[in-house]
Amino acid sequence: MLEIKDLTVYYESAIAVNNVNINVGEGEVVAIFGPNGAGKTTLLNSISGLLYERSKRELQRGGERITILGMIKFNDVDITYSSPWDRIRLGIALSPERRRVFPEMTVYENLLSGAYLRRDRDKIKKDLEFILELFPSLRDRLNQLAGFLSGGEQQMLAIGRALMTNPKLLMLDEPLLGLAPIVQLDLLERIRKINVERGTSILIAEQYVSPTIEFIDRGYIMETGVITIEGTKDELLENPQIKTAYLGI
Ligand SMILES: Nc1ncnc2c1ncn2[C@@H]1O[C@H](COP(=O)(O)OP(=O)(O)OP(=O)(O)O)[C@@H](O)[C@H]1O
Ligand SMILES: [Mg+2]
Repeated sequence: MLEIKDLTVYYESAIAVNNVNINVGEGEVVAIFGPNGAGKTTLLNSISGLLYERSKRELQRGGERITILGMIKFNDVDITYSSPWDRIRLGIALSPERRRVFPEMTVYENLLSGAYLRRDRDKIKKDLEFILELFPSLRDRLNQLAGFLSGGEQQMLAIGRALMTNPKLLMLDEPLLGLAPIVQLDLLERIRKINVERGTSILIAEQYVSPTIEFIDRGYIMETGVITIEGTKDELLENPQIKTAYLGI
C-alpha cells in the first residue's frame, strides 16, 4: 500500500532522513521507533505532503531550503510531490505531533473539520458514530472547547479528526507522548481496534518501544535519519540490541 524508496530529506545542508526504505501493507500496523531527532516527524510529514507544501512556501519567500529526494508511492500512485489535499483524498491521514487540535473550537467542530473534503454525508455520520463509540469521553464533551480537554482526550480528538477523513492509512506521530502509562495502554488498545474493526492500516511513530511493540505487526528502528533495524514484532522483541537499548532487559 505505502512504498517509500530511498527517501532523503535535507533541511538546508543538514540531512534529517537518510535513504529510507519502508513499506506498509494493507491492514498492517507498523511502527517507526526512534529517539528525539531521529527523523520520525520529517518522515511522516513527507508522507502527508506537509513537508513538500512547506518546501514550496519556503522557496517562494526565500526561506529555509528543504530538499526531498526519492519516491513515495501509495497504492501504486507516485505521490512524492502531490498536495496534502490530494493525499487525504487518496486515503492518507496524519494525526500530528503534540496532538494539535483547534483549541477555540468545540470537540464536534474539530471532528467535522476532518471531513471538510468529503461530500458523502451518510458515511460521514457513520464515521462520526464509530469515533464516538471508540472514544466515549469525546461524546460527553462534544460541545466543549477542545482547549479544555485533558491531554489524553486531546490525543483522542486528534486521532478522531484524522479518522474523519476516512483514511486507508492512518499515521500517528507520537500519540503516547505525555500520557500516563495506563492511558497509553488504553489508547494503544483503541488504536488496535481501529485497525481490526475498519481494516485501516496504521503507521505509528513512537519513542516508546515498550508498550507500543505489543500492538504492532512490524517495526523499524530509526536513528539519526537512518533505518538501522527492521523486522516483525517477534524479530524485534528477540533482537539483543533492542532488548538492551530500548526495552532495558
Ligand atoms: N524545519 C527544520 N529545519 C531544520 N532542521 C530541522 C527542521 N525540522 C527538523 N529538523 C531537524 O531534523 C532532524 C529530525 O527531526 P524530526 O523532528 O523529524 O525528528 P523526530 O524523530 O520527530 O524527533 P522528536 O521525537 O523529538 O519529535 C533533527 O535533527 C531536527 O533538528
Ligand atoms: Mg517528532
